[in-house]
Amino acid sequence: IQVSPFDLVVFGGAGDLAARKLLPALYHRDLAGQLPDVARIIGVSRRPLSREAYADFVRKALDEFVKPADKKPEAVERFVARTWFCAADAEGEGGWAELAGMLASGADHVRAFYFAVSPDLFAPLSQRIKQFGLVTPQTRVVLEKPLGKNGESANAVNSAVAAVFDESQVFRIDHYLGKETVQNLMALRFANRLFEPLWNATHIDHVQITVAEDIGVGDRGGYYDTSGAMRDMLQNHIMQLLCLTAMEPPDSFQADAVRDEKLKVLKALKPIDERNAEQMTVRAQYRGGSVGGQAVKGYLEDLGREISTTETFVAIRAEIANWRWAGVPFYLRTGKRLTRRTSEIVVNFRPISHNIFDSSAGRVSQNRLILRLQPDEGVTLEVTIKDPGPGGMRLRRIPLDMSFAETFGVSNPDAYERLLMDVIRGNQTLFMRADEVNAAWKWVDPIHAAWAHNDQRMHTYAAGTWGPSAAVALIERDGRTWFEDAE
Ligand code: BG6
Repeated sequence: IQVSPFDLVVFGGAGDLAARKLLPALYHRDLAGQLPDVARIIGVSRRPLSREAYADFVRKALDEFVKPADKKPEAVERFVARTWFCAADAEGEGGWAELAGMLASGADHVRAFYFAVSPDLFAPLSQRIKQFGLVTPQTRVVLEKPLGKNGESANAVNSAVAAVFDESQVFRIDHYLGKETVQNLMALRFANRLFEPLWNATHIDHVQITVAEDIGVGDRGGYYDTSGAMRDMLQNHIMQLLCLTAMEPPDSFQADAVRDEKLKVLKALKPIDERNAEQMTVRAQYRGGSVGGQAVKGYLEDLGREISTTETFVAIRAEIANWRWAGVPFYLRTGKRLTRRTSEIVVNFRPISHNIFDSSAGRVSQNRLILRLQPDEGVTLEVTIKDPGPGGMRLRRIPLDMSFAETFGVSNPDAYERLLMDVIRGNQTLFMRADEVNAAWKWVDPIHAAWAHNDQRMHTYAAGTWGPSAAVALIERDGRTWFEDAE
């Protein structure tokens, strides 16, 4: 179904995110017939470009980032015809009257401003939008991460935005929430009888959340070195996954009902600070090594510096102090230059209460539910069954496996496709509310402070491995193993 007529203004419209994610996502939605004829995409950047030059930028982006099967010359040109360009600068007034003029013809359309620029510009951009009278009742603003560097700077950004936009108009993107499996986690939990009764400390032993990447920092070193794995991935993507896994059932799928429950999880996280950070967290940086048979450089070399105190890997043993989860560790882990790109949530159930089989049947394995976010999205439930054949009662763990691509025969839309359409529809369920961001920083800030205060060791790991041995020790100390090391 088509969404309402809209104008989407992308600040940073000639930037990397626009090229890689936003334009291809919008193109795919156009291809699917979801964009009304009048919908316009207006790229804004400081550097002046003619409309034709921007059209070339758009064509190039689609050529590079849309897969060949979806590249249809006619559709590409139809999409390009929707794109406009305006040069404007957050710091000055130049170009804003022109932008206002362009938008005037869509005064009653949904209007979305996408801030795909550095968060330093969120405040001045909001001010200019106000100054030029561009906020209509149908206006929304989309904030890309990183949203600040800590609680204080995030609050400053949120207040500056709140001076212009109502919270109901603010869409804070965490693109992990747009991933199909992440939404499926909610379907699985709340649209099935099967899991929810077992979803607690009585039946769950522990949970692992891993977001592993094989890529290094590439040419994003300038940004990444000011951020690190904790701010770049853990504070947002992993904590959102944690929230959806651990939250109480919301009473509806309305945005605030879901976000209220997520917020409670964040508030219930046991603090990690200078007293326990050494036991609960591991930080590390990659050295040179080899990924997929290719020799790759270490982080410092990638960065072109001799020294950096930025972590490219973090592992944390988190606990949620509430009735449902008391005593159940959530092991969180993310890093660059790990063995392979894989993201998953692994829910490990407790052992059966009593084993009726004798030792010749073999071990009774614990059930596991694995939600694979990528690369091949799907869900696996591991159950123990009898090995087929006349050999007597022999037990074996098998996966009940559902691959989305195999089951549905289609590849999943990119997270941004879903999220951009939700912005136009005005649906905030998959976006973070200001108080959630705040609560996430409240948990993360003391960890950073503890690392600095204790001068906590920065481990290293060879590129292409699963991280430092300290991360293995973190979980093995509890008598458990990371999923990929388990049999
Ligand atoms: C971004 C981070 O938010 O997520 C990147 O800034 C990271 O460092 C990326 O590579 C991972 O996203 P995905 O969708 O490829 O898992």
